[in-house]
Amino acid sequence: MNIAIDGPAGAGKSTVAKAVASRLRYVYIDTGAMYRALAWAVLQAGISVEDEEAVAALLQHNRIRLERSGNEQRVFWNDTDVTGEIRTPEVSRYASIVASYGAVRSLMLILQRRMAEQGNVVMDGRDIGTHVLPDAEVKIFLTASIRERAKRRFAELMAQGHATTVEELEAEIAERDRRDSEREVAPLRQAADAVLVDTTGRSVEDVVDHILQICKRTGEEAK
Ligand code: DC
Repeated sequence: MNIAIDGPAGAGKSTVAKAVASRLRYVYIDTGAMYRALAWAVLQAGISVEDEEAVAALLQHNRIRLERSGNEQRVFWNDTDVTGEIRTPEVSRYASIVASYGAVRSLMLILQRRMAEQGNVVMDGRDIGTHVLPDAEVKIFLTASIRERAKRRFAELMAQGHATTVEELEAEIAERDRRDSEREVAPLRQAADAVLVDTTGRSVEDVVDHILQICKRTGEEAK
């Protein structure tokens, strides 16, 4: 069984997807980290993020690798571990721009489908249920109010020592939502057969249990 978890920034996708994967002993794949790694590389290489061709070429000529280390996923750009450097607001903004490029998405799609070939993966992103794994047995669209999403990101960034405010993050998230939903290629959209799960005011455990129940039901129906 494959499980697709999509939704806007800060809805809790990675926390929830990681927990679901761990409970089912599935492999967790964070596709956002792949766009972030490319964004990081664009910044490092000093090429213009507006140059779609150069950005796509950068992805084509280098390697993104996700590696499991205990319960954590580490992200590599070639042999450089970029896990700790891809969560900054600057990388977030760049990731959303590179993710709007068709040439980039086609390459990512190939990489991501290959990762899910063996089955038993929990993959999170924006277009997993609609494009990457349209045949996933379970599809979840995770969302939460924009205020709550900004507050969660704020707590994460504070813990990492980044200075920002909830208001600033709310504006950034709104801008990213807009760009992710309005882009022409594979926009952020709930798949017709996805279950909508609103995480506002709900604990991680509660949401994880809810999703595990959906998985269980799907597994039983398939028998
Ligand atoms: O989930 P995240 O915040 O780490 O994602 C970073 C950016 O990548 C975000 O702006 C949306 C984009 N993205 C995407 O377009 N498609 C995916 N499958 C995953 C992420």
